[in-house]
Amino acid sequence: MKNGKGFIEVIDMERLQKVIAHAGIASRRKAEELILAGKVMVNGKVVKELGVKVSSSDRVEVEGIPVESEVPVYFLFYKPRGVISSVKDEKGRKAVTDYFPEIEQRIYPVGRLDYDTSGLLLLTNDGEFANLLMHPSSEIEKVYIAKIKGIPTREQLRSLEKGIQLEDGKTAPARAKMLSLDKRKGSAIIELTIHEGRNRQVRRMFEAIGYPVMKLRREQYAFLTLHGLKSGDARELTTHEVKQLRALALTKKS
Ligand code: URA
Repeated sequence: MKNGKGFIEVIDMERLQKVIAHAGIASRRKAEELILAGKVMVNGKVVKELGVKVSSSDRVEVEGIPVESEVPVYFLFYKPRGVISSVKDEKGRKAVTDYFPEIEQRIYPVGRLDYDTSGLLLLTNDGEFANLLMHPSSEIEKVYIAKIKGIPTREQLRSLEKGIQLEDGKTAPARAKMLSLDKRKGSAIIELTIHEGRNRQVRRMFEAIGYPVMKLRREQYAFLTLHGLKSGDARELTTHEVKQLRALALTKKS
């Protein structure tokens, strides 16, 4: 049960009455009545307010009976451009979860890709796993392929690698590689590997050296690739992959 601050609460916080309803114990309204009647406990304490949000790591009990948490599921998704990285969108735009109509679990994306960015996105209902991967100390490497307007010099790419000043601070060391350039069109394709996950980071890094991004795709997340998937496709992660990701995120960085 978090109080609404920090990165954790954006991931899988749900209203208590919704969690109870989702577990099939009662309708949303009945769940509200149970809460108001003092019959619901969170982590051993009675909760009587309706605004409280809980995550999958909180222990919820209704009349002394634990609310079973969902079976954890993990997906690797090839997000198309023009899709929002959230569970639903107020403006009615297509959301990543629209691609998983048969999945009963309440899955949500691990981090975000911009509306206009395509590529590898993980989705899960395992809040602890998502938090672990998204925590800055995990330093999970992400490989992006950017088509940029203009052709940067070797020194400019080097400045991206060393770290560049953005409005929210200097970026951590990165790797940048020119994959191809088109002198006639005045554009280049660059592979950029970063381990931070700031908002619109890749676009802002290229803008900072004077080259707007025209197209962006996330090609790799840790050791996971888009291999064998088409845009809009998804596959489940194997148990081994989930374990490997956990181990990687928990490895102490020097
Ligand atoms: N960096 C960006 O600029 N956009 C993304 O979607 C991901 C990383």
